Amino acid sequence: MRAGQTPLPLGVLISGGGTNLQAMIDAIADGQLAAEIRLVVSNRSDAYGLSRAEQHGIPSAVLPHGGYPSRQAFEAALIRALHERGVELVVLAGFMRLLSPFFIRAFPQRIMNIHPGLLPAFPGLHAQRQALERGVRIAGATVHFVDEEMDHGPIICQAAVPVYPDDTEDSLSARILAQEHRLYPQALRLFAEGRLEVRGRSVLIHDEAHVPDGLLAVPELKAER
Ligand code: GAR
Repeated sequence: MRAGQTPLPLGVLISGGGTNLQAMIDAIADGQLAAEIRLVVSNRSDAYGLSRAEQHGIPSAVLPHGGYPSRQAFEAALIRALHERGVELVVLAGFMRLLSPFFIRAFPQRIMNIHPGLLPAFPGLHAQRQALERGVRIAGATVHFVDEEMDHGPIICQAAVPVYPDDTEDSLSARILAQEHRLYPQALRLFAEGRLEVRGRSVLIHDEAHVPDGLLAVPELKAER
């Protein structure tokens, strides 16, 4: 998919705190991710992620979705800003706007999203609340390529966490978010190394190592007598 020689030019779209953005900034600074964040875009001017970009000298822009006459005009401005900076991969990191096919076709198989749920379970808003209400024992996060349906595109990687009876939406969200910060840089690294290949609904990871069997069971599995 990609030669993997030069740093991957990223455009990161945010709407809020930007802790996933921070995880990417840190992974790049630590030499764990061969990428360069060319632009951070927020649709909200009060997103704390904008301050994170500023602190690290990363160019940023605020494109308030309400300030455009139509969704297409907003997305056209977004596309223009990303193209101007030579962005190759668009990274949705807590970006809380649905993108239309018009935008998605401008970056075919070059938009990633992170969702705080184990897709295809619990798409849409408040995935963590949905998981609690459904009583699942295992929750998690998913990084996927974006297609024209919400939270639907080919899955790149997932991380699972336990759900405990005394969890609140906040405690579960925090547990998932900690894993998001490891998962997203890893997905970006695989892309930057040219190791991701989309095959229909699946993503093939070249040279993928297998994880040990029985990694997570909740409650823990006890040895058979
Ligand atoms: C993350 O939990 C991310 O998975 C979620 O928003 C949070 C953003 O946190 N994204 C979605 O719900 C997308 N529908 P951050 O701004 O601290 O990275």
